[in-house]
Amino acid sequence: MRVLVVGGGGREHALVEAIAASHLEPEVFCAPGNPGIARIAEVVDIPVDDLVALRDFAVSRSIDLTVVGPEIPLINGISECFWEEGLQVFGPSRAAARIEGSKVFSKEMMRHAGVPTAEFEVFDREDRALDYLHRRNEFPIVLKADGVASGKGVTVAKTPEEAESAVREVFGGRFGAAGERILIEECLVGREASIFVVTDGENILPFLPAQDYKRIGDGDEGPNTGGMGAYSPLLWMEPATYGQIVEEIIRPTLHQLALIGAPYTGLLYAGVMVTEDGPKALEFNCRFGDPETQAILPRLGSDLLELMVATSDGTLAGREISWSSDKAVCVVLASEGYPESSHSGDEISGLGDLPAGVYVYHAGTSERDGRFYTNGGRVLNIIGTGPNVLEARARAYAAVESIHFEGMQYRTDIALEAIELEEI
Ligand code: AMP
Ligand code: GLY
Repeated sequence: MRVLVVGGGGREHALVEAIAASHLEPEVFCAPGNPGIARIAEVVDIPVDDLVALRDFAVSRSIDLTVVGPEIPLINGISECFWEEGLQVFGPSRAAARIEGSKVFSKEMMRHAGVPTAEFEVFDREDRALDYLHRRNEFPIVLKADGVASGKGVTVAKTPEEAESAVREVFGGRFGAAGERILIEECLVGREASIFVVTDGENILPFLPAQDYKRIGDGDEGPNTGGMGAYSPLLWMEPATYGQIVEEIIRPTLHQLALIGAPYTGLLYAGVMVTEDGPKALEFNCRFGDPETQAILPRLGSDLLELMVATSDGTLAGREISWSSDKAVCVVLASEGYPESSHSGDEISGLGDLPAGVYVYHAGTSERDGRFYTNGGRVLNIIGTGPNVLEARARAYAAVESIHFEGMQYRTDIALEAIELEEI
């Protein structure tokens, strides 16, 4: 069997590793991949947004299944592009990927489906949005540019001034097409979790929950990033709450998408806030989360590729998913200047033999003459696993300390709160 993974970050490194370990013994390709992925799969120099070149490659190499990592190709219709040629894809259609591609679409869908979520209003004019802010006069308040803005389109405004400047920024063209509409919504208070389910449109296989850390600094200080760490599973989340998320958030969403003629297949990611009034959906993504995936997949006991094939075939019914009882903690190592900028070309040392229970996934690296260099904002993901969070975390941070590059930055508090909840 031949599998193509689209993408080239830490998430795709973890996906390629799990897929390559399948008992289906696949030949794995990755476009564009990265130097870590190149050690375990054949990398192909095609960018993730060149759908036609990706399809031509898949046809010419008789690829049996294509697994799409990032959201952009899905939102741009890679699935339809491949399906037209009779190729199988693990990922939703363009119509279903709007659940991530348009925040307004997503919220309106939630409203119709009766999914618990923050109250919201949509505006397509700056003056009306500002007028609403003045009338509502309630802070903090959350403002979101409609389209995909790489995580930068969301502002949690604590003051009227911050909220007004977020409105002006959106309508001032900072986010391009993402800035034609703005959502203004109630600020939810609680604990955030990332919930992944694999679905063939009808059947649902839930993964275990994870938590990611979006801000650059310890204690959730500083600007938002693509994600600075993650851990899984979540000791604070009761199984009953998880069940509620599946029944009240995931299932009605899938039902509603099917109802409007956009049935969802692939991996659905719900960002959820567990509030005093129960879990509420913050957003949906149409793909695996990064870096949560890196903390989830090392614990997966089932064969990921088999699940993906069953998802694309519509034969998930009756399947189960098994997990190791281990815990996993992922620490992201970022380059100097991240998230405002990034630094490339600094040599990375310490990537030799890994101790047991430690995984290293490449996110932004380059390789020259057998040496690795930084090549982007998020450089490496270091994952520690162990029978409890304390050990998993200690393994992750011990490995982090043995790795070095100029300007390396990372958070020191990933999964710290989980240790306090742990009874060993
Ligand atoms: P999103 O891209 O919609 O997930 O938003 C990015 C981050 O903003 C989320 O992970 C939350 O931390 C925060 N956020 C989004 N919506 C809300 C909300 N209604 N209330 C509180 N925080 C929010
Ligand atoms: N970890 C957040 C995301 O993948 O969007």
